[in-house]
Amino acid sequence: MFELKDRPVRASDKTAIYAGLAEDLRALLHGERDVIANAANMASLIYHTLPDVNWVGLYLLKDGELVLGPFHGRPACVRIALGRGVCGTAAARRETILVPDVSAFPGHIACDSASRAELVVPLIEQGRLLGVLDLDSPVPARFDQTDREGCETLAAIYLDSLTAAA
Ligand code: SME
Repeated sequence: MFELKDRPVRASDKTAIYAGLAEDLRALLHGERDVIANAANMASLIYHTLPDVNWVGLYLLKDGELVLGPFHGRPACVRIALGRGVCGTAAARRETILVPDVSAFPGHIACDSASRAELVVPLIEQGRLLGVLDLDSPVPARFDQTDREGCETLAAIYLDSLTAAA
């Protein structure tokens, strides 16, 4: 359960929110293959749709490290080494990391002191690591398996858009 405009949101509603987000993202990215433009629109769409998020954005892999990409939220740290923080760990392991309490994650990098929970999805295109999609929330344990699956689907839609036929 989480709060949406002062009312509790059931897991089934959450599933519906992600279904709508996936449909909207496909439409938004359709016909465009630019890595930055599509990342910017994805970050904006997620940030303005999901309740209780204070940062949504991408870090993109450049010369072996993660570099800040398009995002919504407060200014963030620019470079993250693979294996460092939640983002670098998700990238190095090439697996989604769901952190209910960031203070309990060894090496967590605090960009916005309001962040309490975090979800990081690696962006992998045909075996190649492109970067990560990162979501922060000020609400402890904000993200669950529905968020994980929903955000993995959104990441896949983004990756598909980069190689889609014109
Ligand atoms: N908390 C992240 C750093 C990025 S910000 O949350 C935007 C981490 O530990 O990798």
